[in-house]
Amino acid sequence: MKLLVTGGCGFIGSNFIIYMLNSYPDLSIINLDALTYAGNLENLKDVEQYSGRYRFVKGDINDRELVRFLTSEKPGAVINFAAESHVDRSIMDSSVFVKTNVLGTQVLLDACREYGIERFVQISTDEIYGSLGAEGAFTEQHHIAPNSPYAASKAAADLLVRSYHKTFGMNAIITRCSNNYGPFQFPEKLIPLMITNALHNKDLPVYGDGMNVRDWIHVMDHCRAIDIVLRKGNSGEVYNIGAGKEFQNIEIVKLILLRLGKPESLIRFVEDRPGHDKRYAMDASKLKAELGWEPVMSFEDGMNETISWYMDHESWWQRIKTGEYQAYYQEWYGSR
Ligand code: NAD
Ligand code: DAU
Repeated sequence: MKLLVTGGCGFIGSNFIIYMLNSYPDLSIINLDALTYAGNLENLKDVEQYSGRYRFVKGDINDRELVRFLTSEKPGAVINFAAESHVDRSIMDSSVFVKTNVLGTQVLLDACREYGIERFVQISTDEIYGSLGAEGAFTEQHHIAPNSPYAASKAAADLLVRSYHKTFGMNAIITRCSNNYGPFQFPEKLIPLMITNALHNKDLPVYGDGMNVRDWIHVMDHCRAIDIVLRKGNSGEVYNIGAGKEFQNIEIVKLILLRLGKPESLIRFVEDRPGHDKRYAMDASKLKAELGWEPVMSFEDGMNETISWYMDHESWWQRIKTGEYQAYYQEWYGSR
């Protein structure tokens, strides 16, 4: 079986490629990635050992001819991770979010339709559902109410995928996952940002009162879920993915400081994110009941392993935290 993975040099995509190549000796993967600020070839240096089974293609999912060329090779499935993924950047400028997340998905769908690709998996997010109050969890039936330009662009992509299934009978599935953490996450996101800042005794910028809640899942549990959906999921379905580990942001930040032996005086409460969703929580019972998935990583083990990974891979994130990153950091946090 051959897969075409897009966005495989990012956080979740690179973990997925490593997981799949290690798990399936007969599998080969083409990884199409534009290497934006978030894409990093270093994430995949360990899969160079699989040279016959792994091929990297640098390119944009909006490049229609390149995407047609790659789909004409008839991969058994296309899995679309490629996206602009950071909410704060979408608040600063949403144009590239629409271009990649919406228009890029449409290019992929057209090519899959043209070449009769047997399965398309769209990697989506809980953020398309909007925000919850203190109680309850999102099911797949929850209405779509995205609140950030990022979430709106992901919701638009989901609707396009749905339409290609309904209109053209395309074999397509959407997965919607909660907040991931683990190795190779770009240090603009909450957990790696707080770990790496704390390691250098820099301020930890917490938005608002720090009471917003996210539902955390280890990236490997997400990858296992995608694998199961790819193999056993039903066309036209949406599957929520989440491990049911809800924490306030401030709890996460204090836990990181405790594990690193750093003082809470590093915490700096800053101006809130505009439109900041209060709470996410995923009901993943459909995926569990119908496809037999269960998360296996405990939050405590996952966080310990993740903190250790960032401590052991300082050169990886130090290289990232230069140039473009510093300009972004200054622009976003400088005025907060
Ligand atoms: P990421 O930002 O770490 O990686 C995105 C990757 O996509 C990068 O390698 C980048 O180079 C590539 N890319 C961006 N634009 C591209 C384009 N036009 N053409 C080709 N490649 C392009 O993102 P991530 O956190 O790994 O998220 C992957 C997917 O999972 C995204 O679709 C995101 O919406 C979704 N998701 C993420 C989370 C999370 O917690 N991180 C949770 C649920 C869903
Ligand atoms: O829920 C899934 C989504 O999770 C994915 O679709 C997105 O791609 C991914 O980026 C993530 O979005 P969030 O906005 O939830 O993640 P982020 O790490 O940016 O923020 C997590 C929480 O921490 C959120 O409530 C905002 C807060 N936060 C974040 C940053 C970067 C802070 O308080 N301070 C910060 O500096």
